[in-house]
Amino acid sequence: MIVESTLIKASASLTLSGMNTSELQATGASLAPAKAAGLEGVVVADTRLSQVDGERGELVIAGVRAEVLALEQAQGFEGVAARLLELGSGTRQPDLRAALGQARLAAFAVLGELNHALKLPDAMDALLACVTQGSAGGSALSVLGALPVYVAAGARRRAGLPLIVPNPSLSHAEDFLAMLGLAHSAARVRALEAYWVTVSDHGLNASTFAARVVASTGSDVVSCIAAALGALKGPLHGGAPGPVLDMLDATQHDDPRAWLEAELGAGRRIMGIGHRIYRVRDPRALVFERALVRLAEEDGESALIAARLAHAKRVEHAAVALLSERHPERPLHANVEFYTALLLEALAIPRALFTAAFAVGRCAGWLAHIDEQRRTGKLIRPASRYVGALPA
Ligand code: COA
Repeated sequence: MIVESTLIKASASLTLSGMNTSELQATGASLAPAKAAGLEGVVVADTRLSQVDGERGELVIAGVRAEVLALEQAQGFEGVAARLLELGSGTRQPDLRAALGQARLAAFAVLGELNHALKLPDAMDALLACVTQGSAGGSALSVLGALPVYVAAGARRRAGLPLIVPNPSLSHAEDFLAMLGLAHSAARVRALEAYWVTVSDHGLNASTFAARVVASTGSDVVSCIAAALGALKGPLHGGAPGPVLDMLDATQHDDPRAWLEAELGAGRRIMGIGHRIYRVRDPRALVFERALVRLAEEDGESALIAARLAHAKRVEHAAVALLSERHPERPLHANVEFYTALLLEALAIPRALFTAAFAVGRCAGWLAHIDEQRRTGKLIRPASRYVGALPA
């Protein structure tokens, strides 16, 4: 039945579908227009896990500012993950460091059955396949523990290198670097911890929303994580840091503005810039800059890191200036991915693994949101507006 108040109001403006009002009515569309494209500004859940203040550029995770959590507190990734899981589930967590160590070992034990999955050329495809095959039916902690094992084993298998057995006595971050065959000094572990803590949760981002939608149907934890991984893979979400490094490489010796103009002219977006929520610079960019400076001071290679940082800032400023000319109505600033790229590069993590490395940290938030959603007992099922043809 067509309700007057929900009829599309006569207006010459175009709708989401690109059709005008009379065209829509001819096809039978009769509901109010979609509230906001991409659900922008729509609140879909109450959460105790994190708060994103897009106007002031502030991120609070489990009640603590992200920069404090990442750079000043010593609880590490396991401590923050435990806090998130407690908030999500409402129950105390076991000793997470020990539990994750055992989970890594258990995941390593099933790698023999995941040969095909590990060898998939794209690291995110490989991770998704490993999770759905190797962790099917598993618990939240088993999945959180398995992710770095799958990422590292996939990278080494694809490179034709022997796999490295996890060491359950190490922290999650140290063991990840070790399993990749990378140096794992205290400074480097601290830098990776700062990264994972900072990205551990971030409101209702697309992958977290995907996980919550699946959780709301009563499905199992591995299915929720699989949905989240699929969403994270996209270049508009977690797939940006690799292309950010490509951009920094491409502009290394030239004027970044000319390169950026050519990208926009070709209809492409500038990776690492812009955000759905932040109208100012993403606060996580500053956390990563500080983590990089600290890494440079503590672990050598300071000249290299300083030069890369200085170049990244040049590109960032050029991109922000250019985009502000093109979009004066929408402030576009550096987002989390811009300096993620530099931090992970400084740790020698291959750029093909950047999104998968992001997933390891964000998995803590996903799991907490899954529990939080389950406790609401409510199915997430919005409505759509039909704009197609009706039967004669
Ligand atoms: N480069 C060029 N233009 C951009 C842009 C970017 N990085 N980010 C936004 N814009 C433009 C869009 O083209 C759009 O212009 P239009 O209205 O003329 O089409 C306008 O700004 C608004 O963009 P929209 O996609 O509607 O906003 P959003 O809030 O949905 O976008 C992102 C948020 C993150 C998807 C977007 O900023 C983006 O694509 N960034 C690059 C990818 C990236 O870094 N992703 C990681 C996010 S953490």
